[in-house]
Amino acid sequence: MVVHVFKTPEELAQAAAMVFAAQIAKKPDTVLGLATGSTPVGTYRELARLNRLGLIDFSEVRTYNLDEYIGLEPTHDQSYRYFMNDNLFNHINIKMENTHVPCGTGADHWADARAYDEAVEAAGGIDLQLLGIGHNGHIGFNEPNDKFIYGTNIVKLTRSTIDANKIYFPTEDDMPKEAISFGIGGIMKAKAVILLALGKGKAQAIHDTVHGEIDPKCPASILKAHPNTIIMVDEAAGSML
Ligand code: GLP
Repeated sequence: MVVHVFKTPEELAQAAAMVFAAQIAKKPDTVLGLATGSTPVGTYRELARLNRLGLIDFSEVRTYNLDEYIGLEPTHDQSYRYFMNDNLFNHINIKMENTHVPCGTGADHWADARAYDEAVEAAGGIDLQLLGIGHNGHIGFNEPNDKFIYGTNIVKLTRSTIDANKIYFPTEDDMPKEAISFGIGGIMKAKAVILLALGKGKAQAIHDTVHGEIDPKCPASILKAHPNTIIMVDEAAGSML
């Protein structure tokens, strides 16, 4: 695990986008694992800028997102499919059919979860996995737990996550309390992982990820066992390192 601390979120976004650019230059049909949340928005903006300049070509790239709220239609403005279209896919030359977000509205969520893992496997696995991190150390929506959950799974969101994300909904009642999330096993099988964190609110989770024991109570701590993980933080998120 290597850790880079950046002076500003803009510098972090530029550096993260460069990791993507290098990966896609090396393998044009790269399989990306993508994340939502406020943290990667600057990186997505930078990727769109580089794409406009002709410096990154997404035409053969395939993407698999980490997670989706249970019960939100893709057209809902707080669904992660909507987020991805709005923040990235609509601004780059990717083929929409090459983009994938777990389905949160199917009749059988566990069948959808299994199908998602099979689809990622069939695509050859994730080449480069982008992650944010929750205040409680969650990655994707894999919440603190007694054990690491291997496959894509249906998660009950914790109070910490509900408090962090309810601000995006008119009221807390409007926010789904369950999500479908790509599992820890899928993340760990990615050939490379890049985890981004911004702001003081993430300092403890970053400290526990980097300095703590590998512990399912801080799901991101498993990344210590990953052979190729880059952690990029701003000074605030890195303030406890
Ligand atoms: C959500 C997402 C995570 C994300 C986290 C942090 O819970 N499921 O993938 O990393 O939020 O979000 P933010 O970047 O807005 O702090």
